Amino acid sequence: MAHIRPYREADLRAVYDVCVRTADAGGDARGKYRSDDLMPDLFAGPYVFLEPDFAFVLDDGQRAVGYVLGTPDTAAFVRAYRERWIPRLSGCYPLPPGNQGAPVPPASPDDEMIALHYRPERLLWSGLDAYPAHLHIDLLPPFQGAGHGRALMETFYAAAARAGAPGVHLTVLAANTRAIGFYRHLGLRRLDPAEPGESRVVYLGREL
Ligand SMILES: CC(C)(COP(=O)(O)OP(=O)(O)OC[C@H]1O[C@@H](n2cnc3c(N)ncnc32)[C@H](O)[C@@H]1OP(=O)(O)O)[C@@H](O)C(=O)NCCC(=O)NCCS
Repeated sequence: MAHIRPYREADLRAVYDVCVRTADAGGDARGKYRSDDLMPDLFAGPYVFLEPDFAFVLDDGQRAVGYVLGTPDTAAFVRAYRERWIPRLSGCYPLPPGNQGAPVPPASPDDEMIALHYRPERLLWSGLDAYPAHLHIDLLPPFQGAGHGRALMETFYAAAARAGAPGVHLTVLAANTRAIGFYRHLGLRRLDPAEPGESRVVYLGREL
């Protein structure tokens, strides 16, 4: 029986594997970028490195086959990402041209993601006072649709609430209609950022 437990360092490769296999709007992103570590380096690695107490995995008895990762305090996470995570990956990804002078539109899918890596402040938005926590959840396909997603979300809610967060938000690609249906079914509601945002992304959240 698969069960939820806290993340440990030995889970890192399995967590990276789950991330890349679900990183294309819920589908498999292996081969989409020059390195299969690119998406996990943005959406998994910084969470387990900077916020290990808020990382939980679904273990099938052999390995991690799913996870929920996040932070109770997005603003503090953004600072830590810049101070500790970007230097840790130094040399892995070239600084985008726009970071060195006038902004330049990203030339490739890799450049687009690398630009996000070098701009963690993109995570700061008008809803953070009410919804300071945020999370990412992914399960390998054989473990989807069996109630594990709901259980992982509840595990994260409890940890973030214990840490004092009054609310949690997440962003999801508008194309990932299945995940949006899941979040809405769980009672997360649409949040509209005050600032002009990225139209491909939907913000959802709830009180804790
Ligand atoms: C999205 C995801 C995390 C959901 O987890 P899951 O384990 O498949 O979902 P669960 O089985 O726990 O579903 C929980 C509830 O949501 C409902 N639900 C699931 N998907 C739904 C949908 N698209 N629309 C409406 N309800 C949905 C289930 O019926 C279930 O209802 P119940 O508990 O009231 O009986 C999982 O499918 C996944 O990892 N997908 C690929 C990666 C991904 O897209 N991650 C999100 C990126 S933002």
